Amino acid sequence: MEEEKKKEYSPGLEGIIAGKTGICEIDPERATLTYRGYDIRDLAVKSTYEETAYLLLYGELPTAGKLKEFSDTLRSERAVPGEVVDLYRRAPQKSHSMDLLRTGISLSALYDPEVWDDSIDANYRKAARIIAKMPTLAALGYRLAHRKKPIEPRDDLSAAENFLYMMRGSEPEGPAGRIFDSSLIIYAEHEYNASSFSALVTISTRSDIYSGIVSAVGTLKGPLHGGANEEVMKMLLDIGSVEKAEAWIMDKLAKKQRIMGFGHRVYKHGDTRAPILKEASLEICKFENYCRWHDISLKVEEVVKREKGLLPNVDYFAASVYYLLGLPLETYTPIFAMARSAGWCSHIIEQLSDNRLIRPTSEYTGKRGLKYVPLGEREGGQKAA
Ligand SMILES: CC(C)(COP(=O)(O)OP(=O)(O)OC[C@H]1O[C@@H](n2cnc3c(N)ncnc32)[C@H](O)[C@@H]1OP(=O)(O)O)[C@@H](O)C(=O)NCCC(=O)NCCS
Repeated sequence: MEEEKKKEYSPGLEGIIAGKTGICEIDPERATLTYRGYDIRDLAVKSTYEETAYLLLYGELPTAGKLKEFSDTLRSERAVPGEVVDLYRRAPQKSHSMDLLRTGISLSALYDPEVWDDSIDANYRKAARIIAKMPTLAALGYRLAHRKKPIEPRDDLSAAENFLYMMRGSEPEGPAGRIFDSSLIIYAEHEYNASSFSALVTISTRSDIYSGIVSAVGTLKGPLHGGANEEVMKMLLDIGSVEKAEAWIMDKLAKKQRIMGFGHRVYKHGDTRAPILKEASLEICKFENYCRWHDISLKVEEVVKREKGLLPNVDYFAASVYYLLGLPLETYTPIFAMARSAGWCSHIIEQLSDNRLIRPTSEYTGKRGLKYVPLGEREGGQKAA
């Protein structure tokens, strides 16, 4: 029995099937990724973020009428409570955008009259509110923490265009809006990743959808998960030129440091999403006529592949794309979060449709059978008392 238990344990739950889902399938061998049966390579170029969010939530592509209704709902729900704006104004200057986003979602829950209503219809309505408000929270958080004038969301722009507008104060030009939209589709969902799983653990206690999203945002923040895209850009800036790339990487590898944006727990033959963003990175650098960051990325990719056999993951080329879109580094992970909110909400709703409390067990490795010694009788105890 003891032997059997040990066999079941897998550090980091690697390879463990922790649930069933009809939302997303990753095939690491064929390096494919599908949302509700549709290939990400099709969705990323042919769909929109709004349509993809609908697909994830409701399980099928919308009709034109359903898409309009859903998009109109998202547009009408973009404003955030004034209390969140006040709190952001009072937050310490340069508070990190991820911390502000996590706090903003939590505070927004207080102003949602349906927060305690766990009916399926209320959960779909709350999901739409969360998906609509997260970009506003991300943009506002950054702007106010950096003492910049907030820019109100507009309801005549798509989700992607509106976020770029709130961040930069102008509408995107050329391929910028489409490329950003595509990146949101790519980031929208990824099966049982750490943040989605943390949302499921929270919701499986029959907690509310906002609490699930707060758990997910906190989990996404770490550099081994969503925080990697920001770290990639810091690395590219630190490298500075193609000529310095090889020596920079060799030095880090010699020190046994990890190169951000490479490797993946599930994909061992390459992350399906990376080539799509690599194309986007090339397109935007050509449009802007500035390929420094793309070129350094290519050189680093070559060296890491040669030295470690590791391939880029989703976060790698997202960095050079977002930098050329004029987005500040610390908004990269909030962008991942606002895109992933569609996936998180879909998993939460799916979990609630057939819920069972998620509560695994552990293998005990501590001491056993110790005898309790009163404080005064412990070594050094009298002094302490
Ligand atoms: C994503 C990640 C946590 C997955 O890791 P994992 O499946 O748990 O793989 P492991 O941590 O067991 O690593 C296996 C080996 O590859 C190495 N490795 C993995 N990713 C590496 C990286 N980015 N840079 C350098 N070496 C790496 C490890 O050092 C380890 O080598 P060792 O066996 O000699 O010790 C890991 O690849 C990583 O830290 N990547 C960088 C962060 C990142 O980009 N995260 C975003 C993920 S989408």
